[in-house]
Amino acid sequence: MEEKAKKPFELDRVRENFPILDQDINGSKLIYFDNAASTQKPSRVIKSIKQYYESDHSNVHRGVHSLSIRATESYEKSRRVISSYINAKHEHEVIHTKGTTESINLVAQSLSDQIKENDEILISAMEHHSNIVPWQELCKRSGAVLKVIPINETGDINLDEMNRLISSKTKIISITHVSNTLGTINPIKKIINRAKSVDALTLIDGAQAVAHMRIDVQDIDCDFYVFSGHKLYGPTGTGVLYGKEEVLKSLKPYQYGGEMILKVTFDETTYNSLPHKFEAGTPNIAGTIGLMNAIEYLKEIDFDSAIDHEMAIHDYALQQLKLLPNLKVIGEAKDKSSIISFTIGELHPHDVGTILNQKAVAVRTGHHCTMPLMDFYQIPGTIRASFSFYNSKEEVDVLVSALELATEMLS
Ligand code: ALA
Repeated sequence: MEEKAKKPFELDRVRENFPILDQDINGSKLIYFDNAASTQKPSRVIKSIKQYYESDHSNVHRGVHSLSIRATESYEKSRRVISSYINAKHEHEVIHTKGTTESINLVAQSLSDQIKENDEILISAMEHHSNIVPWQELCKRSGAVLKVIPINETGDINLDEMNRLISSKTKIISITHVSNTLGTINPIKKIINRAKSVDALTLIDGAQAVAHMRIDVQDIDCDFYVFSGHKLYGPTGTGVLYGKEEVLKSLKPYQYGGEMILKVTFDETTYNSLPHKFEAGTPNIAGTIGLMNAIEYLKEIDFDSAIDHEMAIHDYALQQLKLLPNLKVIGEAKDKSSIISFTIGELHPHDVGTILNQKAVAVRTGHHCTMPLMDFYQIPGTIRASFSFYNSKEEVDVLVSALELATEMLS
């Protein structure tokens, strides 16, 4: 995204762009604090999908007729917009996928022939299941060993332990940029530098980062950066695998079929070049166009001002929540994104979440697909409020009084 002077953030105007927010749940105005699970969609995204199906739909890269040419142009324009949003060096380093999970699975599958018995794969103790299980499976197939970098009670990664665990056996370090449960922003540049010292590949799970900070993959200098479109105000079923050109070239294809081939005979098949080598089958064309429009929307409203507002909401919420008796914040890392996880005494998070819903406050409760992290903190789950730039301080006040009510009812 190009550098510009920050515009003042106009919350009321921005909220009008999100039609879903204008509704009542159980007789009260919806308050949506489940943005880490999925963000809501601006009208621009919704309209772009409708417009595509009403006027431009056909299959991509296949036809010489006008509709196919238009669909292909928009699909490839989306790649350009995404590539510039994350500052990739080349457009063909951006692979369209259906989300973070598929992007990680793609890498873990395609690396199969490069990982050998006794090689080591490093992840951290705060990873989402999507950044644990594909590597466990790769270890089972190859005989490699999965090692876990521990965290401190605050939710910060233990860098001393990381330094101890990394060795010449380490082949890949796959780590989240921002923890979906704790909100911790990991020092990924330090981790990547250390990985380079032993020639290990690095994958950064950007699912919780990409909508909350500027991402520059050349500056980060990772081998892979992955994220989902639906957390970036775009449609579900869209996502990105960014990979450095030379690393992507060295991977074998993930799925086989149409689009990813160059020439097929019954004896032999040769594969297409990047990015098509990794995009077998008809892709989510409409979704990809929606994702491009989500990025264009973020530029329109001035991303930096939006993030300043979002963090002000987070800081206010943290201050107010800490005033509640028995409320314990889980994850108080030095560097944090706009996610707050907490418990209230012995109250079960699902019970609290159900009462909050009665007051139209949507939060996520449970283990957040990070069961090992729950084991570390020895809790069954947390209540998680995750913020977006379309949230307000008044909404935080409603959350706080709904939590007071829940505590009174459940104690
Ligand atoms: N990974 C998403 C979350 O943390 C679904 O809620």
